[in-house]
Amino acid sequence: MERSLVLIKPDGVQRGLVGRIISRLEQKGLKIVAMKMLHIDKDLAGRHYAIHRGKPFFDDLVDFITSSPVIAIVFQGKNAVEIIRQSMGDTDPARARSGTIRGDFGVDIGHNLVHGSDSVENSSREIDLFFSAQEILSYDRDLDTWIY
Ligand code: RTP
Ligand code: MG
Repeated sequence: MERSLVLIKPDGVQRGLVGRIISRLEQKGLKIVAMKMLHIDKDLAGRHYAIHRGKPFFDDLVDFITSSPVIAIVFQGKNAVEIIRQSMGDTDPARARSGTIRGDFGVDIGHNLVHGSDSVENSSREIDLFFSAQEILSYDRDLDTWIY
């Protein structure tokens, strides 16, 4: 089954939207297999967003993601990466459709509440940055027989 790293960014935690964001992804049928709260440091931020190093928004992005704690979650499920990207909506909340997390809760591209891996390759790289193998749990959910 596919896995994706989701971060509820500092604005999502500060605004008390953690429960609602997690609920949307749980209700879709995705399974939480790892979760923690942490304050990202500059080193981890630089590695997580390495692809954006050198871009005009990079320094603001690192300052923002390190400004306050985040929730890091590994979601697992069929097509998890694509489903989570669809549920998040466009990077810019002003352009994200209603019904998406960013479309319903945000207005500013620098405060877009949530991160989700953008490909299967990046998801395993990102999950390795945030979780050890022992922190990712394997368990069965009875309700999966009604989702799959
Ligand atoms: P994320 O990685 O955080 O899930 O967001 P994303 O894939 O939708 O967008 P990405 O292109 O990876 O950009 C990472 C974050 O950088 C900020 N950004 N600002 N001012 C700008 O033009 C600009 N472009 C990107 C956003 O906060 C975005 O989430
Ligand atoms: Mg991205």
